[in-house]
This record gives sequence, structure tokens and C-alpha cells, in this order.
Amino acid sequence: MPAELICFESSCRARYAVTEVIYNCPRCGGLLEAGYDFSSVAAGEWKRIWRQRRTSNAPLDQSGVWRYRELIPFLDDYRHVVTLREGNTPLLDAGRAAAYGGLRRLTFKHQGFNPTGSFKDNGMTCGASQARRLGMQRVACVSTGNTSASMAAYAAAGGLQPAIFIPHGNISYGKLAQALEYGAKTLQVEANFDQILKLVRVLAEKLGIYLLNSINPFRIEGQKTIIIEMMDQRDWQAPDWIVVPGGNLGNVSAFGKALRELRELGFIDRTPKLAVIQAAGSAPFYEYMSNPGGRFQAVEHPETLATAIKIGDPVSWPKAKHEVIASGGLVEKVTEQEIADAKVQIGLCGIGCEPASAATLAGIRKLTAAGKMDAGADVVAVLTGNLLKDPDYIFRYHTGQLEAPGGVRIESTFGNRPVVVANDAEEIAALLG
Ligand code: F0G
Repeated sequence: MPAELICFESSCRARYAVTEVIYNCPRCGGLLEAGYDFSSVAAGEWKRIWRQRRTSNAPLDQSGVWRYRELIPFLDDYRHVVTLREGNTPLLDAGRAAAYGGLRRLTFKHQGFNPTGSFKDNGMTCGASQARRLGMQRVACVSTGNTSASMAAYAAAGGLQPAIFIPHGNISYGKLAQALEYGAKTLQVEANFDQILKLVRVLAEKLGIYLLNSINPFRIEGQKTIIIEMMDQRDWQAPDWIVVPGGNLGNVSAFGKALRELRELGFIDRTPKLAVIQAAGSAPFYEYMSNPGGRFQAVEHPETLATAIKIGDPVSWPKAKHEVIASGGLVEKVTEQEIADAKVQIGLCGIGCEPASAATLAGIRKLTAAGKMDAGADVVAVLTGNLLKDPDYIFRYHTGQLEAPGGVRIESTFGNRPVVVANDAEEIAALLG
């Protein structure tokens, strides 16, 4: 099935070979996406094959990304694939979180169950495999933490040399620790995410390093499988809404592309609405989409304790705009307090997640309260990262020490303070009542 890179700009749509090392359209500067000739799709047959592969011991079939390889057919040789058995993430019912969000029922698609603990693994297996296919030896990314952890792991597994660039002092130790342990050359740059991305793009070109940020269209192909697997797990019944946190906006771009393709190819018969939730201090996409006719404006100094989505100038906004509109969806923003409280409610379901992921439930609560989402709607929220990514945030919240940017204290609304006790059975028995 021939694959190409196609300019995303509707006025250009220039086409390039899938083996070119480009991240933007050389003609107009637009974003690129992978395109395929899908004329020989057999939806019913493929659904059956994908189910069968769940029982296979072949690495490619065990991967929750490559299992669906018919819908991401950009490789010509699967020997290039680097897989850590990514994907395979569960759909979890969460009654308590549903009630908190004003819904009768809510399901979480928990991407924190991935090998490095975030949804980035779905994309990185594709990006790293493409790097090998192209013969690139060095790979790089700028990251708020999860992309770098994932890239470091896949580079190590695939025999590539990883260099990661992170905003100094602005990523959680859990994520930084992963990159160090996986052996990535780690540069903590004294700048924010957006500034470093500009720098890395220049360096990558100059030094012949393959860039694995979500501007890389093959990462987006991998992240499509989050939706494909979700629909497979739901027996191809599309929900009413899919809710996702928005940072650099790669994930919502991938979700929208997956939904369009699944619908066009006859895998699903209706399109869920995409709801993108941003942190209020880092919400350029929310501001843009709330202001029809306005220009996209970056937030120069983005702020949020949900450091994963602390991004002021998201590269994929044109794609995200297209996908949100095409799905009939919307964009919302939530405060630091709303994120922190929603996160505990997810924890109390026995599920847990990192701060950025909890923006989903905070957003749902806001949307139901405003009457923009029905209480009876069928909603899937995507939890993007594992609880253990940022334990420092959790400890501070529960002990009343969490401070939002600008020194505003976050109330420990649902705090669960640890109790220090003497080594004394009677005292402890009294405490436990
Ligand atoms: N949630 C988590 C846990 C993330 O790590 C990210 C992005 C997002 C949500 C937002 O996804 O960028 O596709 O809109 N993290 C990137 C990183 C930027 O470098 O790890 P997006």
C-alpha cells in the first residue's frame, strides 16, 4: 500500500516520498501528514484479523500499535520496527469520577499503562522505527518530560543515540530519571519548551539528527492507534465524546485523523466529538478557538503545575483546529485547583494519573455544569500519563504544600495527610479507632 507525505494545508497538498527527512512542507511550510492509498480496505476482515492477533506471540502482533498495521502502512519492511509491546492500554469504568464530572458513566482509556508510562510510546514506536528505516543514527526531541522518557527508551531498544532537550527545572523527576536511566544524552536548557523547540529544529538539520517531536508525522500515525484500539475494545461502537488534554496538540491531531479514517473506511458509523482541555495558564488554543476570526497567538510565558502541558506555542494547532471542527467538538480550559481536585477523584477510583491527564475530568465537570455535555453522554477520557510520573505534586497536594504559579496556594480539598506515629501499638490502635 503506497504511502506518501502530504502537506496538511488545503491550499497546497504537495506530496513527498515517505523516505524524505522533512518535518514541514518544503513548498509552503505547512505541517505534513502521512497519506495512503486505502482502496483495498476490507473493514470486516481486518477487524477479525486484529482480534486474532491478540492471541499471537509475535512481537508485531502483541504491540497495541503494530497489531493495527494495516491502518499505519508507512513502513516497507517490518524488520525496522522497535517495539516494547506498547499500547494494549485498558478502558476502565470509573463511577466515582463520573459522578464528580456530572456524568452517569465515564470510561478512562489509560495510556499510563504503556511501557514508559505515557501515550508517547504509541507514537514513539513508529517514530523510532522510521528513524531506523531512514538509516538515521541520532534522534532528538525537546520535551516536557514524557516524550523524552519515551524516546530515550525506544532509542536504547533500537540501537539509536538519543539526545534530549528539556526546560531546566520544569520537568518532574520521574520523567527526568527515566531519560537518565535509558542512557539519553540529557541537556537541561535554560529556556521554555517553545524556545527550545526552535533551537532543536535548527540543530537537528545542522547535525543530521532525526527529530522525534510530535511534528514528526510518523509519531502521529502511531498515536492514531490509541483511537483504533479504543474502538476495537468497544466493539466498534463510537462514544459521544472523547476528551483529551491539549499541550503541543499532537495527540488531538492524531485522534482526529484516526476518526476521519475509521469513518471513511467504514470501521465506525459516527464520529465522536473531540473535547480538548487546556490548563488556564497555558491555553493558547482555547483562546484562539473561543475567538472566531482571530489570529492564533502564542502565550509567551505559559504557566501550570501540569508541566506536561506547559506549552505556549503548540506546533500542531492548524491540525488540531481542523480536527476539533471536523468532529463538532470544542476546547475548554481549567484552573490549577480544578486539575488538582479532579486528579484526586481519579485516584479514588483506584486509577490515578499525572496532573495533565486530570485536566480531562476537570474539563468534563465544567462542560456538564455549563450544559455543553449531557449527563447521559457516552464519554471516554484519555488519561495520558501514569500517576508515578510526578509524585512530588501528589505529596504536596495531600500535605497542603502545593502552590500554583504566582504563589497561589492550592487548597488540599480532598487531602489525605500521612500521619507520623510513635512505635506504640496502643497509640496506633487508638488512632485507627
Ligand atoms: N498529557 C501528558 C501526560 C503529556 O506528556 C502531554 C505532552 C500531553 C498530555 C499533551 O499532549 O502535546 O499531544 O497535546 N507532552 C509532551 C512531552 C509535550 O514533551 O512529553 P499533546
